[in-house]
Amino acid sequence: MIPVKLSALGIYLPTQVMTNHDLAKIVDTSDEWIRTRTGIIERRIASSQESTSTLATAAAKQVLDKRGIDLLDIEMILVATMMPDMPFPSVACKVQDNIGAFNAFGFDISAACSGFVYGLETAASFIKAGAVRNALVIGAEVLSRCIDWQDRSTCVLFGDGAGAALLESGEENCFLGSVLRADGSGTDLLYMPGGGSKQPTSVQSVENRQHFLKMNGPELFQAVVPIVCEAITDTCNKAQISIEDVELIIPHQANIHIIEEVAVYLGIPFERFMCNLHKYGNTSAASIPIALYDAVQDGKIVAGDYVMMVGFGAGLTCGASLIRW
Ligand code: ACO
Repeated sequence: MIPVKLSALGIYLPTQVMTNHDLAKIVDTSDEWIRTRTGIIERRIASSQESTSTLATAAAKQVLDKRGIDLLDIEMILVATMMPDMPFPSVACKVQDNIGAFNAFGFDISAACSGFVYGLETAASFIKAGAVRNALVIGAEVLSRCIDWQDRSTCVLFGDGAGAALLESGEENCFLGSVLRADGSGTDLLYMPGGGSKQPTSVQSVENRQHFLKMNGPELFQAVVPIVCEAITDTCNKAQISIEDVELIIPHQANIHIIEEVAVYLGIPFERFMCNLHKYGNTSAASIPIALYDAVQDGKIVAGDYVMMVGFGAGLTCGASLIRW
């Protein structure tokens, strides 16, 4: 097995900030409700000139500037997203062209909020097997384009953003263990009905608001807590690392109370969980790389630390990955 390291991180967040107070002007909600029920205070919203591929490209460029790698040496690009620029071609192909990584192949990963972890493990497996020497893994979303701004139960939750990581073959393996899971019986808890082969776009589908994200929040909340706990525990067991030795857990940033419940269930102090959803809301596949980046910037992770990333989302999907920083 070829050892894999995570050599650089980058993020991009649109400059436009939308606060809870801004939202209270467009739907029947309040800063108090959103803060207390979710932990979110503000989120970023992409401009009309931006799209998932432009956010992904900006995050990728930051990684490449930091690492200083020759663009023609990039071999694989994976973009995790549930809101691509368009159904096809992939965002990965747009990014490849935008950054000039002309020798790379790439594809998108549709695993909703678990997508970045799915991408990391896919890329790490390719490198471990010797199929490629490096891979750019990006989580990027412009969910503001599929949010129903008349639905207060969902529009307050989400935000736009992108995060990227470069994985390379190295001396020491940093990817210690993972689990990737799916439970298709939960597809109706979070989905977008229109625009695909089942319900193609039509005047009627637009009138019936079928091109917006639909979510059963309370049921999803109940479903994800045990799934996330099991994924964390099973990943530790696989890697033969005690959960007590994991310095930081970086969960998908959906709701602070999900993170609190997971902490209680696992008996781990809440302080060992990374939380930045108050600044960005739920950015789906981008939330874990953005939180990882912030954790490094804030000095919450130092060399040698064990870091657990865990994503969960539509599908239902779940993925956990344990790395040594
Ligand atoms: N402002 C004010 N009131 C609201 C709002 C709002 N924005 N939204 C809902 N309410 C009202 C409801 O109408 C309801 O009123 P009622 O009691 O008079 O009927 C009341 O608040 C309670 O509604 P619930 O939906 O039960 O509120 P809950 O406390 O469950 O919070 C939430 C809802 C925040 C969506 C929560 O269930 C949640 O976070 N679920 C998990 C969602 C999740 O994990 N999603 C992401 C996973 S996948 C991915 O990220 C893509």
